[in-house]
Amino acid sequence: MAINMKGKDLISINDLSVEETYQIFELSQTLKQKQLTGEPHKLLEGKTLGMIFHKRSTRTRISFETGIYQLGGIGLYFGPDDLQLGKSENIHDSAKVLSRYLSGIMIRTFSHQDVIDLAKYADIPVINGLTDLLHPCQVLTDLFTILEKKRQLKGLKLAYIGDGNNMAHSLLHGCSKVGMDISIASPSGYTPKEEIVNNAKRNAAYMGSKIEITNDPVAAVKNADVIYTDVWASMGQESEAADRRNHFMKYQVNPELVKNAKSDYLFMHCLPAHRGDEVVNEVVDSENSVVFDEAENRLHVQKAIMALVM
Ligand code: CP
Ligand code: NVA
Repeated sequence: MAINMKGKDLISINDLSVEETYQIFELSQTLKQKQLTGEPHKLLEGKTLGMIFHKRSTRTRISFETGIYQLGGIGLYFGPDDLQLGKSENIHDSAKVLSRYLSGIMIRTFSHQDVIDLAKYADIPVINGLTDLLHPCQVLTDLFTILEKKRQLKGLKLAYIGDGNNMAHSLLHGCSKVGMDISIASPSGYTPKEEIVNNAKRNAAYMGSKIEITNDPVAAVKNADVIYTDVWASMGQESEAADRRNHFMKYQVNPELVKNAKSDYLFMHCLPAHRGDEVVNEVVDSENSVVFDEAENRLHVQKAIMALVM
């Protein structure tokens, strides 16, 4: 039976039940199919999504804006200097006002707490389009993509190589929720936040899967079904890029490293990729790479999320 998710916020995958997570995947598949065959699917006719961006974006902006349009609604884009929010108006008042005009809000910003507060005060669903802490829409899409390619999630092993950042955190939430093993290899000082690792360990124990945090990329990649990486310096950390490159060079995903994975491993990256840093062309352009299918799936998965919560 369908679970009613109307009005729900999506701040973290951790807030979703396993059933809700799979419901998103099922609807994503249905909507993807409908789009391919040209079947109408205007599930959000007359609805308006406000899209607030305090950081730049290609995929998130375009997939949300195209997605809401394909569902029969419209998207309104607000860039870093467009709103009073956080400048001359507090989050509470902005949330109350936006709730009188819009049917949903998607926000990409720095502080995760700001998104939690926005959701607390808004009377409409709030979707997290990336914070410094988490990137749930990306990881729901990643799991959907793995499911499409491998026909299963439970029992697979994902190796994440690189910075213990928002992607690493959401992958910890996501993999542990669906019973995938996840091994994260990061340099000391750049490992994921302990509270997120501990939370994932609790979920994994319940699902019978394993969480490993290591400094050894070869150990992490061993027998992996999926190799994932992300930029070494995230948005907002640009000034640290040169210093980080020194710490991370051993964590580059290159042909030598991927030899340790299963031969049919998938290479994944949320993109944008810094080719020559965290990954080299021979891997990102190889037959194992699914990065552009992954990027396309942002559209289908976010349409499902919007259709379910708005
Ligand atoms: N992966 C992702 O969120 O890309 P953008 O920064 O281009 O939105
Ligand atoms: N970790 C990256 C992800 C971009 C989609 C960042 O936050 O910049």
